[in-house]
Amino acid sequence: MFEEKSLLIGNETVQKYMDIDGAIDIIAKTWEWFGDDKIIMPSKITTDMSSAGVAGWFNSMPCYISPLDIAGIKIVGGYDGNKKNNLPYIKANVVLTDPHTGLLKAVVSGDWISDYRTGAQPAIMIKHLAYKTDVVTIIGAGLQGYTSLACMSRLLDIKEVRIADLSSEAKKNFISKFSDAKFKMVDAPDNKTACEGSDVIITVTNADADLVRADWVKPGAMVITMGSFHEVEPEVVRQADIIAVDHIGQSLHRGNLKPMAESGEITAESFDVEIGKLLAHKTEYTPDKDKRIYAQIVGMGCPDVAIAETVRRKVLEEGKDSFEFNMQG
Ligand SMILES: NC(=O)c1ccc[n+]([C@@H]2O[C@H](COP(=O)([O-])OP(=O)(O)OC[C@H]3O[C@@H](n4cnc5c(N)ncnc54)[C@H](O)[C@@H]3O)[C@@H](O)[C@H]2O)c1
Repeated sequence: MFEEKSLLIGNETVQKYMDIDGAIDIIAKTWEWFGDDKIIMPSKITTDMSSAGVAGWFNSMPCYISPLDIAGIKIVGGYDGNKKNNLPYIKANVVLTDPHTGLLKAVVSGDWISDYRTGAQPAIMIKHLAYKTDVVTIIGAGLQGYTSLACMSRLLDIKEVRIADLSSEAKKNFISKFSDAKFKMVDAPDNKTACEGSDVIITVTNADADLVRADWVKPGAMVITMGSFHEVEPEVVRQADIIAVDHIGQSLHRGNLKPMAESGEITAESFDVEIGKLLAHKTEYTPDKDKRIYAQIVGMGCPDVAIAETVRRKVLEEGKDSFEFNMQG
């Protein structure tokens, strides 16, 4: 009989064994493995519970990662009622299984992992694609906006950050968290002021709206949408010289590009860069001062599974900080 310890690993333990720089490195590596066809990852599927009266949805995001020989699934959702219960909008868990036997290896809290993996994504994408990062605009002063700037501040040379949000309180809160930053923090009065002249514009809200207009985006600028719904007017995508994504298949039925893909205006052939292929040196790209870039990041499950597996291995080495149980018993 196989002996396999199944571990339960909580969010504090994850943070004890993983830091932001470690997470960024694993995410970049996982994207590269994906671009190198070393990861099997079907597109995620969404269970939207709203028609049954539950104000939430969750995604099931399975994968097998060959270099780590681990199988797993990230289960992550957004829950509208969480704020009033003092919980974050996004909640995540990761389940790790032995790819050869199906035995459960661990259930790992996915909250910190998902938030920092989300933040690391624009940081890595911008580092490899953007021509300039002096002025960065973030529309959406929530948790994912915070982790995005926390990660960007580690990888990018930034002089000014403009923050826009419907909520003045959210903006104030956000700015106070970066009081020691080397860059200037600007509380933007509106999206137009936030975007005009900016080198990089990121939308990371739960809005379904035209937050950015094409005539606010200067030549050479990069616009990234990260929210779960449509966030910029279609002309922003149409006028882009380069379209980049994290995952081509998922980008055709999610996020900002969903309506344009459904109408047939955006197809798999519309994308110039899939970031993993660039990191695996299978795509060529040179930043250009005049070219506008549009990027959509919808998020993949494999980085979360890779971070969770790295944490599980460290916990096992130390032999503490987790609850063990026997699923066979
Ligand atoms: N792409 C990914 O990998 C990924 C991963 C996790 C979450 N998300 C998505 O990111 C988005 C933000 O998640 P979060 O955890 O930061 O949520 P959050 O609730 O912490 O923050 C969202 C912020 O958006 C602001 N906002 C809403 N509508 C707005 C509008 N019209 N104009 C300006 N600001 C507006 C809210 O005031 C709030 O401050 C969600 O859509 C979530 O599903 C994406």
